[in-house]
Amino acid sequence: MDRDQELRQKAQQEVEKYQVIVTSDPYRPTYHIAPPVGLINDPNGWIQWNGIYHLFYQWMPFGTEHGAKFWGHLSSTNLVDWKQEPIALTPSEWFDKDGCYSGSAISHDDQLHLFYTGNVKTNGVRETYQCLATSKDGIHFDKKGVLIELPNGFTAHFRDPKVWNDDSKFYMVIGAQKEDNTGSVVWYESEDLQDWEYKGILADGFGYMWECPDFFLLDGQYVLLFSPQGLRAEGINNRNVYQSGYVIGKWNDHFTFGEFSELDRGFEFYAPQTTLDEKGRRLLFGWMGVPDQKEEYHPTKKHHWIHQLTLPRELELKDGKIYQKPVEELVELRDELIVHELGPITKTIPRASEILLDEITSEKGYITIFDYATIDFDKKNRTIKLTRPAFDNGEKEERVGIVEKDLNDIRIFLDHSSFEIFINGGELVFTSRMFASFYHSTLEVQAQGQLSLWSLRQKF
Ligand code: FRU
Repeated sequence: MDRDQELRQKAQQEVEKYQVIVTSDPYRPTYHIAPPVGLINDPNGWIQWNGIYHLFYQWMPFGTEHGAKFWGHLSSTNLVDWKQEPIALTPSEWFDKDGCYSGSAISHDDQLHLFYTGNVKTNGVRETYQCLATSKDGIHFDKKGVLIELPNGFTAHFRDPKVWNDDSKFYMVIGAQKEDNTGSVVWYESEDLQDWEYKGILADGFGYMWECPDFFLLDGQYVLLFSPQGLRAEGINNRNVYQSGYVIGKWNDHFTFGEFSELDRGFEFYAPQTTLDEKGRRLLFGWMGVPDQKEEYHPTKKHHWIHQLTLPRELELKDGKIYQKPVEELVELRDELIVHELGPITKTIPRASEILLDEITSEKGYITIFDYATIDFDKKNRTIKLTRPAFDNGEKEERVGIVEKDLNDIRIFLDHSSFEIFINGGELVFTSRMFASFYHSTLEVQAQGQLSLWSLRQKF
């Protein structure tokens, strides 16, 4: 048996061994993507190919810590029902033996191409290789080896290739740490996806490393999305250990851009990736986790799994700001309309539900979920504040966002141990995990507005 087969077999054994304990966890999500066992992090290779959505993910099957990552694989026809596909990539070769790290997918010549980073660490010394794997059926991938080696001027923190094309060429951005230990994104060009020409630094200027870059046109403007490390907390901004956000600018060989904005105001959000689907929508998945941020305190580790992904979101640019809204397909999740009345209310609700508080008229108010998380709003100063107990010591911690104009609506997707809160149709989003006690099952809405609540169907 070769190394690839051996790793596949071991991963499969791990899935089977812990299946019962993983799926019996009351914190297990029923409509969000979570790892079959072990640890999930970044969404990878996100693409719609021949009508089918393919989503890959960073996966560590052998434990709930980070390590030599695999690429897990799911497919979907409707963004609601997902099918677990065979493992796409295992860390089986000399150039990726310590992890098939993050990357992206592109279609060319009827084949699905995956670009990823081969991570190698020998006696603590890191090497990095940008690699290619291709597939004719979108299920079985042939590794083609190393395409890009580390250029001069950078440390081995050089990873996460995102590839795209226009009518004439292919392009790639990579997250890179410069030799002076500052973060940047570099870019490459290619005619054929094989030979890549290094074009230089696309953007830099703060932090010590930028991970998972993504570069695309959104409503006529260039957006660079990335996850910078090493930003200092300032007021309500940059409160998580690492950030995830974007700059908007103009690009013609040179990229000039404005201020950095965080994409999400919640506690757990990182390493998002987008794709343009066949309907022309810019769709995003994020990781509902942050590296090095109290990961060791997640109670799901006892059940041999950790972390999950966000729901798919559609991006829009309005008044210089990215709006994220849950894709419209997600209304298919709605099962029963349990509440449809004017707030305030207090009610026992299911662990998988969608809550919509619309046409909010009260000046101030709050929503408390399972006596655990509270969303306070204040229309006068336009603030939304999310409070929850910290995973390590239970002390209250908070995140704050400010809306541009008036607060109108709050839409929440609850899924056992997580929530995604969309304010004003996606102007602000708070994504977070929630490890509430099972003795508490009430929703309290202290606000005037039109309240609707649906129980949501189980998909996993
Ligand atoms: C981001 C990240 C990437 C890397 C991957 C490894 O969360 O650190 O930069 O490719 O995770 O799993």
